[in-house]
Amino acid sequence: MVSEQPAQVPVRTPAQVLVASNRGPVSYTLRDDGALEAKRGGGGLVSGLSAIGSDADAVWVCAALGAGDREAVRRTGGRLDQADTGDQRVRMLGIAPDVYTDAYNGVANSTLWFVHHLLYQTPLEPAFGPEFRAQWASYETYNRAFAEALADEAADGAAVLIQDYHLALVPGMLRALRPDLRIGHFSHTPWAPVDYFRLLPDDIARQLLRGILGADRAAFLTRRWADAFTACCTELLGGTGNTRIGVHGLGADADFLRERAHRPDVDERLVSLREQIGGTDRKVIVRVDRTELSKNIVRGMRAYRQLLADHPEWREQVVHVAFAYPSRQDLAVYRDYTAEVQRVADEINAEFGTDGWLPVVLHVKDDFARSLAAYRLADVALVNPIRDGMNLVAKEIPLVAENGCALVLSREAGAYEELGEDALVVNPYDISATAAALHQALSMPPGERAERSKRLAAAATALPPQRWFLDQLEALRALPA
Ligand code: G6P
Repeated sequence: MVSEQPAQVPVRTPAQVLVASNRGPVSYTLRDDGALEAKRGGGGLVSGLSAIGSDADAVWVCAALGAGDREAVRRTGGRLDQADTGDQRVRMLGIAPDVYTDAYNGVANSTLWFVHHLLYQTPLEPAFGPEFRAQWASYETYNRAFAEALADEAADGAAVLIQDYHLALVPGMLRALRPDLRIGHFSHTPWAPVDYFRLLPDDIARQLLRGILGADRAAFLTRRWADAFTACCTELLGGTGNTRIGVHGLGADADFLRERAHRPDVDERLVSLREQIGGTDRKVIVRVDRTELSKNIVRGMRAYRQLLADHPEWREQVVHVAFAYPSRQDLAVYRDYTAEVQRVADEINAEFGTDGWLPVVLHVKDDFARSLAAYRLADVALVNPIRDGMNLVAKEIPLVAENGCALVLSREAGAYEELGEDALVVNPYDISATAAALHQALSMPPGERAERSKRLAAAATALPPQRWFLDQLEALRALPA
């Protein structure tokens, strides 16, 4: 039978605002009964985008990360059901699994992340041979898939906000496809110093810089990372060309956090955490991180061990609550690091623990409500990354801590630029200095601690995610056509 009606094609308005990131606002798991379960994520971009309202013609382009996501793409053609996304239009790209693995694990997380966070053990690595060149070809393919999807979705003259090191080539590729667009690139990571960036093969180093310079604006979390990028462009390409360089710090979402931290599920976890801590007035040193090499969790624990060795008066009087959530577990070096975190925690507990006192309470299963409960209990927040684009935990804990907290903060975190004055600042490699800072933090008079914590919270919330997002959008739109 021949139908007289043409097939119904869903109407799609071209988007005026586009966001592109590897990880999207939703992820799927395929259940045994064949149904797909959607789980929504949080973070700065999600709240940032919410600032423009759901009636704005905005679309978020992201990659399918795992098998559940790919199945969702197969069933929907990639235009996800808005019931799953909190009413956000999302275009999810079903990139071939081997291409995706090379681009995400091989290039983005094992190479670019390592370069920007100074993570290599340079006598042996990196070593760029044919295997890396093959991964690089996949990274190009993956970036091209994003550029093509954005070109396809964007209205004439639309604003496109491309996120992070996964998508460094997209601005240049998109500019070639759609010169009418206003393109921004934002780096959530630090940027490597020139000499370290030059570990990359010369042609690839230049290709990455040119890729980002395809944007009208390239923006960073702090002036320091922006200057490092500019220095690389100057050294390798002779300058940044017509691309403007911007700085947009990202702050904590005070309204959301203060409300979320007092819901019943958080109260429940507070009770069980208190039980694990034991004692009535033990002090609590809190850290919450992905189990991420750059977060420096192992040196943080070693500093805590030194505190207990140097200052026996703290034994039984303090507990280190450390949450280290699984991250990038496809990479062997992350799995090894996770095991090492666990090992050092066990060692400290075996060395110092007593019948009624577990010195380190370590949890490795992601639980947002429990993190917020720990924030509320914190007397001291330990944030000691080797290097970090910003670090929002440093901003969130002082905001939520019920009695105010002292912040021990690495000078290598982007947050140091905004919080340095009221934090106890440490060199993240200096375990002894970190131990001394922990002692100072634990000994801080309550009045001083409350005052500092109040100022930290104020600085931490100066740039809420909505502002962060809208400022970038306005800056793009204000550029001459
Ligand atoms: C950093 C990156 C983000 C990334 C996040 C989690 O914050 O800047 O782009 O999404 O880590 O890492 P993952 O590999 O799990 O997406």
